[in-house]
Amino acid sequence: SGGSVDSASLETVYVQQWLERKVTQALCEAFGEEVKDVNPMVAIASKPEFGDYQCNVAMSLSKKVGMKPRDVADKLLQRLHPLLQDVFEQPEIAGPGFLNLRLRKDYIGGRISRMTEDGERLGIPKTGNPKRVIVDFSSPNIAKEMHVGHLRSTIIGDTLCRLEEFLGHDVLRLNHVGDWGTQFGMLITYLREKGFTAEKGLGDLQIGDLVNFYKQAKARFDEDEAFQTASRKEVVALQAGDATSLSGWSILCEASRKEFQVVYDMLNVRLEERGESFYNNMLSDVISGLKEIELLKESEGARVVYVDGYKNKDGDPMPFLVQKSDGGYLYSTTDLAAIRHRVQKEKADRILYVTDAGQSTHFDQARCIARQAGWVPSHVSLEHVPFGLVQGEDGKKFKTRSGDTVKLRDLLDEAIVRASKDLRERLEADNKPFTEETERTARIVGLAAVKYADLSMNRESNYRFSYDKMLALSGNTAPYMLYAFARINGIRRKIGSEIKLDSSCKIILDHPAEMFLARHLVYLPELLLDVEKSLYPHRLCEYIFELSQRFNQFYENCPVANAPSEEEKKSRLALCSATANTLQLVLNLLGIDTVERL
Ligand code: ARG
Repeated sequence: SGGSVDSASLETVYVQQWLERKVTQALCEAFGEEVKDVNPMVAIASKPEFGDYQCNVAMSLSKKVGMKPRDVADKLLQRLHPLLQDVFEQPEIAGPGFLNLRLRKDYIGGRISRMTEDGERLGIPKTGNPKRVIVDFSSPNIAKEMHVGHLRSTIIGDTLCRLEEFLGHDVLRLNHVGDWGTQFGMLITYLREKGFTAEKGLGDLQIGDLVNFYKQAKARFDEDEAFQTASRKEVVALQAGDATSLSGWSILCEASRKEFQVVYDMLNVRLEERGESFYNNMLSDVISGLKEIELLKESEGARVVYVDGYKNKDGDPMPFLVQKSDGGYLYSTTDLAAIRHRVQKEKADRILYVTDAGQSTHFDQARCIARQAGWVPSHVSLEHVPFGLVQGEDGKKFKTRSGDTVKLRDLLDEAIVRASKDLRERLEADNKPFTEETERTARIVGLAAVKYADLSMNRESNYRFSYDKMLALSGNTAPYMLYAFARINGIRRKIGSEIKLDSSCKIILDHPAEMFLARHLVYLPELLLDVEKSLYPHRLCEYIFELSQRFNQFYENCPVANAPSEEEKKSRLALCSATANTLQLVLNLLGIDTVERL
């Protein structure tokens, strides 16, 4: 048996997961149904000499079945080999009873043909078990600056959405904007002071720069007691649904929305706005719900919930504040309401929150409370996806030379300007003209650089924002990857114009460099599952960086246009094509557009 395309059937593409199922099946055949819940102990091989995967179950099962590990391995192997033979070589038993498994060449070849043929999905099937996934990301605050933390959230969140969508899940992208809260009392009071009324709305009043407007309102608030009193009344009026207050509020939201949208358009990120205000009428139910099950406690007039295991600095139990003594609700209350709504109304199976690591405790506590309250069935997972700080090149707080917070729009524009300057210099050196197309390319490169720099870092660490590093042509950067794609795509285009590739094309993997490349190519589906679970996009970047290096080795060692035979030429062209398709797909998951030429 064996033989390329058939054995590369869809169910095997997640090789490790498939292998785990087969090991379990073989274990049951060999030792009976009572071992069906035993962990099959399948892992990626720790060293290349051990093959591609290893299975260590013989050691862990030995006691349970009362046999020596080596004998367990023997018995398992007899059952396992027939199940695996289309995909794996005859497994080897090593040491006390390790099973070493090596993928068959023709299996890998079959997978590569499929990847050349199906340029869009690369033979990766959509899940047969789609989940409802809610990703809560970006989520800036109305009338405040959208800062670099929100940029990180936007970029990371978008990639996680793209990945889940690609895998076939039903994704809801939610922008939980901070559009409710006490700051609106101050802002609307200031609007009124400036002449805003229900009848004439803003009239001649220009809010212009909202952040500035916020600063002015805050200054008035700080200097004038009457203003403070008016602001507090305004909050109450707004929460009670007063029409004038609401119209002031929506003017402010609309103005912010426009500013945020500029950034989303530049980044090509789609989000559905469902801010804190959306949950406003569900907040009192949260309180009464918590009261009913006696989770609600009083503390100095406020209402709080204590979560086991959370202590503050002094070692006292740490309260999770849900209602202030004046009756007002908080950020926390809204998050509890949001969990309920997302689980009950939106039928979420998985909810991801992409925010800075500083909010970890908040989300941990909210999750514990929601579970204790019985609002979250056990199959639903709530996961905080924390990330570190964006710092300046000096490792200090990220700000402009004059010490202000950096406007995201300016930051993205600056990356484009610098990318454009780099391109212009290189074109001039080659005596080539700078055209409109170059301008478009510069935009793609500049934005890609910002995204890639962020995504290629382990999200949990702080990262230093450096235009020079992110725009560098060498190393694990966007320009490097975009060049690699353009070059490989160019090779494929040039040679491919004479040759037609199809799934019947035989893939030859005789040179170690061909095999080394091909092995990495077929790992992609497993990588995607790994990232879906770990929520570490930097692994995608590591993967394509490694891919481009394996490609270079291959291209140095294995001539394509001048391959020794027509058959090898075709096969090598297929490897080029599969590599280009893979780069394109992964860059796309990272929210990065590719360019044909650079
Ligand atoms: N607006 C918050 C901030 O700027 C982020 C909101 C995150 N989402 C949530 N459901 N709490 O930090």
